Amino acid sequence: MTVDLQAAVHAESVVDVRRLSPALGAEVIALDISRPVSDAVIEALRATLDQHGVLLFRGQRLNAEAHITFSRRFGVLQEVAQKQYQLEGQPLIYVIGNVEENGRPIGDPSVGRLWHSDQSFLPHPAIGSLLYGVQCPPEGAATLFANMYAAYDALPPQMRAHIERLHAVHSFSEYYEALRERDPTQPELTDTRRALYPDVIHPLVRRNPRTGRKALYVNPGYATGIREMPGATGARLLRDLCDHATREEFVYAHAWRNGDVLFWDNLAVNHKGTPFDTGRFVRRMHRTTVAGNAAIYAASLLG
Ligand code: SIN
Repeated sequence: MTVDLQAAVHAESVVDVRRLSPALGAEVIALDISRPVSDAVIEALRATLDQHGVLLFRGQRLNAEAHITFSRRFGVLQEVAQKQYQLEGQPLIYVIGNVEENGRPIGDPSVGRLWHSDQSFLPHPAIGSLLYGVQCPPEGAATLFANMYAAYDALPPQMRAHIERLHAVHSFSEYYEALRERDPTQPELTDTRRALYPDVIHPLVRRNPRTGRKALYVNPGYATGIREMPGATGARLLRDLCDHATREEFVYAHAWRNGDVLFWDNLAVNHKGTPFDTGRFVRRMHRTTVAGNAAIYAASLLG
C-alpha cells in the first residue's frame, strides 16, 4: 500500500481531524468553510482527503456563493447537466432530494441509488463532489461510501495483476434506461443527450495522481462490461469485483444532520444514496462537482 504518510502527518497537524469509521472518512473539526480558508489549510485538506477518501465538515451554513467559493479551491466546477435541477440562478449547484418550491419539485429525486463514482461515464470523470445537507430527514437517506483503495488492497495478488490489464465499459445510456425502469417519471433520454455521452472505457485500476495509491475503479451504476472479456465471463468478473468492493469492512454509512458537508474523492470511493419516507420527510441537498481533466486523468493511469 503506497500512502504518503509524511503528507498525512503534516496535514493532521494543520487541521484537526477524527476518523469517521474503520473503513474510511475523517471529520474535520471546527473549520468554518464559509469563511476564507488559507492555502496551507486547503493543502492539508487535500492530503487528508488523499488519506481518508471522504471529509466531513459539521455545522456549516453555506449560501450558494460560499459553497462555490470553497469548492473552487479544489478545481474547476462543473455545470449541472440537468438544468431543471440546478439551483435557481446557480448553474454550478445541483439540487438533490424531494424538495418543492411553489408546488414544483426542484431537486433530483432519484440520483445515485446504485453504487457509483460520479460521472465515470465521462472520458475524464469528476474528481470530487461536495454535498451539503440543507434539510435532512431524521431517519433514512444515509449516504454509503465504499473504500476503493482497501478493496483493491484486499484482492489476491494474482487477481490484482490480472485486472490491472483490463478495462471496463461505462455507459450513461444503460444507466439511464435502468433508472427509468425504477422511476418511470424520469423523461425519456433524448438523442442529443445520448450523443453527448457515448460509452467510454476506463482501466479497472487507477492510481491517486498525488500519492500513487492504487484503487479499484469500477461500479455497478455505470460499468456494463469488460472490454477484453465480452460475454458471461467478463460480466461475472465485473459483478464479483463490484460485490467485493462493498463488503461490510470497506463501507461507511453517513447519517446526515442539517449543516453537514461531505467532500469525497471519486477515485478513492464509490457511493450511493439510500431511501427515506418521502411522504413524511423533506430532503434538500446541494452538490457542487469538481471536474476532471485530461492531465489529472493521465496521471491516474498505471502506465
Ligand atoms: C449522489 O450520488 O451524489 C447523492 C447521494 C445522496 O443523495 O445521498
